Amino acid sequence: MVDLSLEFCGVKFPNPFTLAAAPTTDSAEMVARAFEAGWGGAILKTTSVETEVVELVYPMMSGIDLEDKKLMGLQNIDLISERHIDEVEKDVKALKKEFPDKVVAASIMGAKKEDWQQLVRRLEAAGVDLIECSFSCPHGMPERGMGSTIGQDPELTERTARWVKEAATRVPIVIKLTPQIADITSAARAVKRSGADGVCAINTLKSMIGVDLETFIPYPNVGGYSTYGGYSGPAIKPVTLRCVAEIAKSVDIPIAAVGGISTWSDAVEFLLLGATNIQLCTAVMHNGFRIIEDLIDGLSVYLEEKGMNSVKELVGKALPYIADHSKLSRDYKVVSTVNRETCVKCDVCYIACMDGAHQAIDLDEMRIPVINEDKCKGCGMCETVCPVEECITLKPRES
Ligand SMILES: Cc1cc2nc3c(=O)[nH]c(=O)nc-3n(C[C@H](O)[C@H](O)[C@H](O)COP(=O)(O)O)c2cc1C
Repeated sequence: MVDLSLEFCGVKFPNPFTLAAAPTTDSAEMVARAFEAGWGGAILKTTSVETEVVELVYPMMSGIDLEDKKLMGLQNIDLISERHIDEVEKDVKALKKEFPDKVVAASIMGAKKEDWQQLVRRLEAAGVDLIECSFSCPHGMPERGMGSTIGQDPELTERTARWVKEAATRVPIVIKLTPQIADITSAARAVKRSGADGVCAINTLKSMIGVDLETFIPYPNVGGYSTYGGYSGPAIKPVTLRCVAEIAKSVDIPIAAVGGISTWSDAVEFLLLGATNIQLCTAVMHNGFRIIEDLIDGLSVYLEEKGMNSVKELVGKALPYIADHSKLSRDYKVVSTVNRETCVKCDVCYIACMDGAHQAIDLDEMRIPVINEDKCKGCGMCETVCPVEECITLKPRES
């Protein structure tokens, strides 16, 4: 049996898989079902003090599909929870009583110092294990000076994180960052300076998901108008990977990864880049709490196959292989090769090379691509567009 438990900011999670702050964690009943299914922890949906007015609009979700793959990206115009701290206090107490070994975390957002500090004190008293602060919601809340307004400004980030940390006597404070900042490491450094315990990267990306060609109204149509939303799901995973890697390489602070994680192998990538907590939102909204079974089985089998006893052994293992662009070898040369047996003669590589790369592919009389090695730079475009796995591969040049 491999050990999947992982410590994040001093809190022991039975496994790294945690529900992110989202509709999936907006009631104790939902979180209880998730814990029963096997989730290690949950960040309850972001709450606020009772005086904060939260008025939601509907519909609030729109998706982008990629051919037959539903929900490559999800845009929401949801806000923080309509359930204020008084209800969340009760949820925390009930969940901790029923599931003492699971991690019950809360997410908070305040308009001013007193709000942030009150939220922390009340949640600590209710028995929460960890508090995440949303400095990162990209829509709705920034109009009120909250959410990503804070996370986009390292000074505000540091000041606000200090307030929160000052009020905490027992539980670790994690700051959830926005990717919408020129240098996410400057925000992570601000968190470190504040004394807060960890960061969570990332929240959704501010987006506009599409426009209805008949009505001219962008999606989602809320009574004739739309607005900008937050983009999540598989489409944003590369942005999250970059953010987590950048932080891990330059700031000594625990990182929770969230954004585009759907499978156990996605999770492994984030662990390899230094994350010690893995959060999921869109994948759970799409496929339900039951995906935890595949996540746990997949991760366990992978570790066994790698001969590793603990998930801890993965953390940060990919980081030494990331270098500045200027440090990459100019002497490393590759060339494309085509497997004639598996080629389906679709011409896609030919067209991509002709119009998007180096005109290094010819078609023979059978319409099978032939690489002109003198012209091929090994850019990888043909391999990237080829619909057949491992039909086109890049091989190091012999000389
Ligand atoms: C409908 C919806 C509501 C969300 N609400 C919150 C929230 O209240 N607080 C928060 O910090 N993040 C919230 N998020 C952001 C998620 O926690 C997460 O950071 C983001 O969706 C990226 O992860 P994913 O690609 O796994 O969905 C929400 C996301 C969605 C889709």
